[in-house]
Amino acid sequence: MRKFVIGNWKMNGDALEVHEYVHELKTALEGMPCSVGVAVPFLYLPQLTALLGRIPVSVVAQDVSQFKGSGAYTGEISAAMLRDAGCEYVLIGHSERRQYFDEDEMVLQQKLLCACEAGLNPIYCVGEDLNQRLQGEFFQVLDKQLAALEAVRDHLPATVWVAYEPVWAIGTGKVASAEQIAEVHAFLATRLRAILPARCAARLLYGGSVKSVNAREILALPGVDGVLVGSASLTVAELSRIIEEARAMA
Ligand code: 13P
Repeated sequence: MRKFVIGNWKMNGDALEVHEYVHELKTALEGMPCSVGVAVPFLYLPQLTALLGRIPVSVVAQDVSQFKGSGAYTGEISAAMLRDAGCEYVLIGHSERRQYFDEDEMVLQQKLLCACEAGLNPIYCVGEDLNQRLQGEFFQVLDKQLAALEAVRDHLPATVWVAYEPVWAIGTGKVASAEQIAEVHAFLATRLRAILPARCAARLLYGGSVKSVNAREILALPGVDGVLVGSASLTVAELSRIIEEARAMA
């Protein structure tokens, strides 16, 4: 199966950049079979969908409301709205959401449920911080984070995406070692086999300072089905080098 490369723009870019990005991406991906997704800020999702047209790149949202249906939730974007905007996937539980918006397992469980019910594929993000890594508590932390997925197990789609993003590796240039990634991915695969219903299969992404220079080594690791790329996804040149590495491994 092809490795999945997702670019997460976070709170970066503007309408002009989205326009230029898609134009460049179209040229870069010409005749290149690959599995790619791009997560731009909410505001630019419909534009991204329209510009991509038939270019086989998935539109990914960076977050979703925890509230079901529609209603008096000023400022919120529902899962159905994201579907309407052309999204196929949504990041849920990114460490920046956990850190800056106090999103806990209860909230994330609701978000997962809303996404699944609207037919959006959640990409559930987990990862320990530096202190938890140094204290050797990371398996417990990851296990606790997985509880939100377990709580919604009956609603999950057949393929369940989980992204391991150690907080200490995000935006720091400090990528986790091959041993650390392989160890955590093996742990997650085992735990997910126990948590998920038999009809579901888990696929695992790694995220945290992925660049074209380290993408090959990471993508080649056992249990790594793709990468979630932050800052290196902001330019098509760098993202397409990562996509090339992923494609060479399919
Ligand atoms: P960086 O690639 O900038 O470290 O960000 C990773 C990330 O958070 C992707 O979601």
